[in-house]
Amino acid sequence: MNTKTLTLLAALAMFSFAPVHAQTQGTNYDESKVPSYTLPDPLVRNNGRPVKNVRTWEKKRRPEILDLFAREVYGHVPGKPADLHFKVLKENPKAFGGLATMREVGIYFNAQETNYMVLLMYVPNNVKGPVPAFVGVNFKGNHATTDDPEVSMPTADQLRRYGPDFQVEPRNTAGDRWPFETILSRGYAIATFHRADVDPDFHDGFKNGVHPLFDAGNPRTAESWGTISAWAWGLSRALDYLETDPAVDAKRVAVFGHSRLGKTALWAGAVDPRFAMVISNDSGCGGAALSRRCFGETVGRINTTFPHWFCDNFKKYNGKENDLPVDQHELLALIAPRPLYVASASEDQWADPYGEYLSLVGAGPVYALYGFETFTDTAMRPVAVPAVKGRMGHHIRQGKHNILIYDWLRYLDFADKFL
Ligand code: GCU
Repeated sequence: MNTKTLTLLAALAMFSFAPVHAQTQGTNYDESKVPSYTLPDPLVRNNGRPVKNVRTWEKKRRPEILDLFAREVYGHVPGKPADLHFKVLKENPKAFGGLATMREVGIYFNAQETNYMVLLMYVPNNVKGPVPAFVGVNFKGNHATTDDPEVSMPTADQLRRYGPDFQVEPRNTAGDRWPFETILSRGYAIATFHRADVDPDFHDGFKNGVHPLFDAGNPRTAESWGTISAWAWGLSRALDYLETDPAVDAKRVAVFGHSRLGKTALWAGAVDPRFAMVISNDSGCGGAALSRRCFGETVGRINTTFPHWFCDNFKKYNGKENDLPVDQHELLALIAPRPLYVASASEDQWADPYGEYLSLVGAGPVYALYGFETFTDTAMRPVAVPAVKGRMGHHIRQGKHNILIYDWLRYLDFADKFL
């Protein structure tokens, strides 16, 4: 074959294969192109036997599903470290003009205090305590959640731990996502920590963040925890502290999160039953959205762009979603019978709002086992019409991928009802 023929063949190959390639690699936003799929039944055990009561669900089936998510999706989450300890680093009893008391709490994961996170929390003043609380991870640092000048900027030691690419953003950059004064006026405490304190969000082979504390001496396997599991672990450590703070009722703590941190909140709520309520805001792929729909972000896409988020086993399902032994409705089912809110945004097609809602429907049978009403209608719900069924809440906010006051007001109403 001469060069000309080779070039021609190459051109033909590109011509004939490119569209197919583009289709598998491209993002599907067309409902008619969603592949047909069958969801695994949360109420059928691995041995094929049906689950007919709460006891069998709690003793047999729930542990099976939790184990499948740990082994095949997120990786195993370790427990409390032996040397965990806390120090109140700063306190301001007159935050927001006296509305609240602010605390910054050092949560140290080791005795040497080289691995830690700083929890920023506000507790409403003039409310008879202990009060219920919301806890969630933040994206950009505690200082970015508020204009409160008392909140510390990241220290040199934190910046060193975050890595050279970390950019410190100005105070209050993410303030619209954190309506502290509204939350506090409704009688709730609020607590948050920066994701990078627990694990900086880039792939360095799990050398930074909290992983080395546990991985040392245990070679990592395909089931080892990724970054989402590490953040979820951090949420449990925040709750460990809240259990020691007399101002907060640790039995009434809602865990919430937006986007990747919404995936994290769901997984934290599944792993740690102490969380009394779970809220997922635009959590999408690997969060509330069904993987088998392959609508918007897919398993293959997320594992390629964010290879550190999940465990290595999850990569086996890139482009093979039907082989997954679980789907995300079963993650939601692990929250049962606790109150669960799933929210989406109408323009956030990447996160598959319909797939997030169908997941809630798919978790319904487990809530029903506990005797609660559930969402059963498989038609897409209307935009800006929040609804509560039994212990499940749902809305689709008009607009883009974000967590805004509209979302928060719904979560506060939901918490008023159930916390
Ligand atoms: C990306 C990613 C999503 C994630 C989002 C976020 O868009 O693909 O899975 O939820 O980032 O965390 O903001």
